Amino acid sequence: MSHNQNILTLDEFTIQQLRMFPKATGELSTLLRDIGLAAKRIYAEVNKSGLANIPGATDTKNVHSEQVQALDVFAHNQLKGVLKNGLSCAGIASEEMENIEVFDDAANNKSKYVVMFDPLDGSSNIDTNISIGTIFGVYRRISETGTPCTMEDFLQPGNKQVAAGYIIYGSSTMLVYATRRGVNGFTLDPSIGEFCLSHPNMQCPTNGDSYSVNQGYWYQYEREIQLFITHCQEKGMSQRYVGSMVADMHRTLLKGGIFLYPATYRKPSGKLRLMYECNPFAFIIQVAGGEAISGTAKIIDIVPECLHQVSPVFIGSKMLVGELKKYLHPGGLHKVYSNPAEIEI
Ligand code: AHG
Ligand code: MN
Ligand code: MN
Repeated sequence: MSHNQNILTLDEFTIQQLRMFPKATGELSTLLRDIGLAAKRIYAEVNKSGLANIPGATDTKNVHSEQVQALDVFAHNQLKGVLKNGLSCAGIASEEMENIEVFDDAANNKSKYVVMFDPLDGSSNIDTNISIGTIFGVYRRISETGTPCTMEDFLQPGNKQVAAGYIIYGSSTMLVYATRRGVNGFTLDPSIGEFCLSHPNMQCPTNGDSYSVNQGYWYQYEREIQLFITHCQEKGMSQRYVGSMVADMHRTLLKGGIFLYPATYRKPSGKLRLMYECNPFAFIIQVAGGEAISGTAKIIDIVPECLHQVSPVFIGSKMLVGELKKYLHPGGLHKVYSNPAEIEI
C-alpha cells in the first residue's frame, strides 16, 4: 500500500501548530507525543489480548469498587511511564489510583502540566472484542513550577483544561484531541506506527438521530429522563449504546446525537467520573460545537470537591441537549419564550 505523503502525522501536526506561536515552548506537543506513544503500546496489547493471555480480571477492586482488569493496570502503567519519563508532566491522577501521583524530581517539577486519565475505558467490553478506549484531560498547574505539584492542581474545573482527548481502540485506532483552537482526529497507520491526521477540525453536528443511554435502567431513572427518552422514541430516533463511553462519544461526535448517563436509583449521583470521563468529553464536545451538562450546570463549570467525584452527564448535539433541558427545567422554559402568548398555562 502506498502512503499519502500529504497526510500529517501527529508530531508534524503539533509542530505545525507550534510554528504559528513562536513563543510556545512545545511542552504540550511533547506531552501529546508521549500520550501517543503510550496509546500505541496499549493498542498493541489490546490487539493481541486474546493471544497473549492478558485478558481477565485481577483480584483487586479500584476506588470505585469495580473489579480491576489486567488491561486497566497495563494501560495505567504505560501512561504513567511515558508521562514520568517525559518532560511535560508534573504529576498524574488516574481512575485506577486512589491518590494523585506527584513526579517529584527536578525535571518533572519544571513541567507546566498535570494530566488526569481513565487508562482503559469500557473495561467490561475488554474480553468481548468491543471497542474500548483511553480518556485524558490536561491542566496547567496552579502551583509554582519548579516545585512538586499539589492536589489543587488537579481539583480544577473542566473549563481550565488546556487540552483533552481520547484514544479509541476500535476497528481502527484513533487519537482525537482538542485544544481551544479545535478538535482533530488521527488514525493509527499500523504499517508505519504513526497517528496520521484523518479528521481535521471535527465538528459535532448540531442535531442527530440517535440517543445513547442504558435503557436497562429505565425503572431507575427519574420521570423527566423517562419522558425525554420517550420523546426521542416518538421522534423515531435510533437507540445506540455500546457501554464504552469512548465508543458512544466517538459516534456522537462524528454523527451527532445525545449520550446520557443520568442519576439512577442505585447511583443517585450518576456513575461516570467527572475528572476522567465527563470533563474531557465535555471539553472536546464544546470545542466541536456541542454541549455537555450535568442537569443543573455545565459539566466543565463544576468545581470538583474530590478526585473521584461522579456526575450525571448529558452530552452531544446542541439541539438535542437543548430539547433535554426543556424536560429537566420545565419552569425554566418560560424564561426563554420571547412571546408570552406562546406560554401554555
Ligand atoms: P470504565 O470501564 O472506565 O470503568 O468505564 C465504564 C463506563 C463507561 O465507559 C460506560 O459508558 C459506562 O461505564 C457503562 O456503564 P453501564 O454498564 O452502567 O451502562
Ligand atoms: Mn471509563
Ligand atoms: Mn477505566
